[in-house]
Amino acid sequence: MLYDYPEYYETAFSFRNIEEETKFLHQCIKQFSKINVTNIFEIACGNAPHAGLLTELGYKYHGLDLNRNMLDYAAYKWKDLPNKLQLLEANMIDFSYPEKIDFAYVMLGSLYLNSFDEIKSHFDSMSRMLNVGSLYFLDWCIQFGDPLAHNGNNRFTIEKDGIEVESEFQIKLLDKANQMYEEIWTINVNDRGRHKQFNMIERNKAILPEQFLHFIKERDDFEFVGWWKDWDFNHPIENEHDVTRPVALIRKVK
Ligand SMILES: C[S@@+](CC[C@H](N)C(=O)[O-])C[C@H]1O[C@@H](n2cnc3c(N)ncnc32)[C@H](O)[C@@H]1O
Repeated sequence: MLYDYPEYYETAFSFRNIEEETKFLHQCIKQFSKINVTNIFEIACGNAPHAGLLTELGYKYHGLDLNRNMLDYAAYKWKDLPNKLQLLEANMIDFSYPEKIDFAYVMLGSLYLNSFDEIKSHFDSMSRMLNVGSLYFLDWCIQFGDPLAHNGNNRFTIEKDGIEVESEFQIKLLDKANQMYEEIWTINVNDRGRHKQFNMIERNKAILPEQFLHFIKERDDFEFVGWWKDWDFNHPIENEHDVTRPVALIRKVK
C-alpha cells in the first residue's frame, strides 16, 4: 500500500495548494457555520496536510485514519505544534469519538463506503460526533458526470526532495446497477536510485447528486447547504454534468 509509505504519498500529491485549500475551509466556516468553531475533524486524514495551517488559524485539529503509518507520520511531522494533533485509528464506516466537533471535512473523494448501509453508518457516526450547527465539507465525494470519461490521460510525474513519483489512474465500472467503480492506481517511485512499484486497487460506490440530496433529505439530523465547482463559492453547481473536484456542504441540524 502506498499509504504505508506516507512520504511517497505526500510527494505524489505535492501538486496541491494546501495553503489555498486551508483558506477555503476557513472561508467556508466564516460564511456558513452557525456556531463558533474550535475543534476540526478530518475524515481519512492520512498525513494531515492542513493541520499546521489550521492550527495557526486557531483551530484544534483532530483526524481519523485506518492506516497507522499515516497517523504516525502526521503525529511526527506536526509534533512541534502548540496543540498536539488528536488522532484516531479507526474505520470511517463506524466509529465513536469522545469529543464533540464543530467542523468536519474529507478531501479528495476519500469516502471509502461501498454500500448504502456503510454510507448510512458513516453519517450516523458523524452525527453522533458533530455539534448541532456544525458543517461537514465533502471534497470530490459526489459523482457528477461519468468518471470513465477521464480515463486515458491520467498519468503524471512529480519530484520533491530527490524522490520522483510517477502515478497513473484508471477507473473501471464494476457494477452499473450499484454504481460500483474500481480505481486502479499504479505508482512507480524512484527514491534517490531505489525503485519501488505500488499497485493499489480501491473499490468505491459512487454517490450520485440526486442520491445524495435524497439521502440528506430523508435524514432529520442534516440539511443540505450547497455544492460548488472549482473550489469557488461564486460557482454553485447548477445542472452541470461534468464537474471536476466538486465540493459539497451539509449542516448538522439536530
Ligand atoms: C487519498 S488519502 C487522503 C489523505 C489526506 N486526507 C489528504 O488530503 O491528502 C486517503 C486516506 O484514506 C485512508 N482510508 C482508506 N480507507 C479508510 C477507511 N475505511 N477508514 C478510514 N481511513 C481510510 C487511507 O489510509 C489514506 O490515508
